[in-house]
Amino acid sequence: MLTVSLPLSPTASVEVPALGLGTWRLGESTANSRTRAAEIAAVRLALDLGYRLIDTAEMYGEGGAEEVVGAALAAWTAQPGCAREEVFVVSKVYPHNASRRGTLAACERSRKRLGLDRIDLYLLHWPGQHPLAHTVAAFEELRAQGRIGGWGVSNFDVGGMEALWRLPLGPQCATNQVYYSAGQRGIEFDLLPWLRERGLPAMAYSPIDQGALATDRDFAAIGARHGVRAAQAALAWVLHQPGVIAIPKAVRETHLRENLAAAALRLSADDLAQVDRALPPPARKQPLAIL
Ligand SMILES: NC(=O)c1ccc[n+]([C@@H]2O[C@H](COP(=O)([O-])OP(=O)(O)OC[C@H]3O[C@@H](n4cnc5c(N)ncnc54)[C@H](OP(=O)(O)O)[C@@H]3O)[C@@H](O)[C@H]2O)c1
Repeated sequence: MLTVSLPLSPTASVEVPALGLGTWRLGESTANSRTRAAEIAAVRLALDLGYRLIDTAEMYGEGGAEEVVGAALAAWTAQPGCAREEVFVVSKVYPHNASRRGTLAACERSRKRLGLDRIDLYLLHWPGQHPLAHTVAAFEELRAQGRIGGWGVSNFDVGGMEALWRLPLGPQCATNQVYYSAGQRGIEFDLLPWLRERGLPAMAYSPIDQGALATDRDFAAIGARHGVRAAQAALAWVLHQPGVIAIPKAVRETHLRENLAAAALRLSADDLAQVDRALPPPARKQPLAIL
């Protein structure tokens, strides 16, 4: 399995899968609906297939996605040989909850919904109104209590990362989760190099542009050369970037299987050149793409 080194603290890194599972849009139906049961089954299937990193957030379905993940994890870990520690769980606090006390309370609620003693990585979902120092203090308190394994941010541009790095405990940050796909390459100009210089992986959300790259002509042609579909080629392109973790969301079994297989795909120099011609890298700074 392709892995990426994640610095949970400046002195301790863990290897996490470069391919994870996104969960946005899950848990939006009522807790006892058929849709909810199908979603739980999909996440459990993902675990059975070998997914070992799951990304969620208190925002998704207002806690519903965390409940789906929690139910799937409970069912999966009930099987012999399936240990909770094998799965790396990421969740996020809403910016409006990210005061010192609010972060502690939000994490407690998320842990309950997930059914976990510890969230492996806890992110600030996007920059908000609460002082960053207060959020960081809460993250460090949660880490000291063993409630989270480490923490990071999401949707932070270089300026935000620099502000974070000016805080005494800011460099404890493990990652920045941002929109990154072959169609959204803006971070290659400055943010990705900034993170790489500090040994921080980027966590790429919407790596297949919310499904849009599944119908891209160039990726269809690249995929055809490897006997795979366009979405897989697009995902392989993200996974080809060093220090990048991709978290495509999928509930359909074919998609779950295709995306796992994409992690084993190696694109050629010709493939990469074709992507650069069709979707060129940024020549100047671009505003951070946000969904
Ligand atoms: N931090 C943030 O602010 C932020 C923002 C956005 C997203 N995220 C995270 O990143 C995750 C991924 O982003 P996303 O959900 O926006 O978009 P995405 O992963 O790029 O695309 C998901 C869509 O693509 C479809 N899909 C998945 N695999 C496919 C395949 N092999 N072939 C064709 N279609 C495929 C899915 O369909 P099915 O579901 O029907 O299988 C779904 O409709 C989210 O779920 C969330 O966990 C974070």
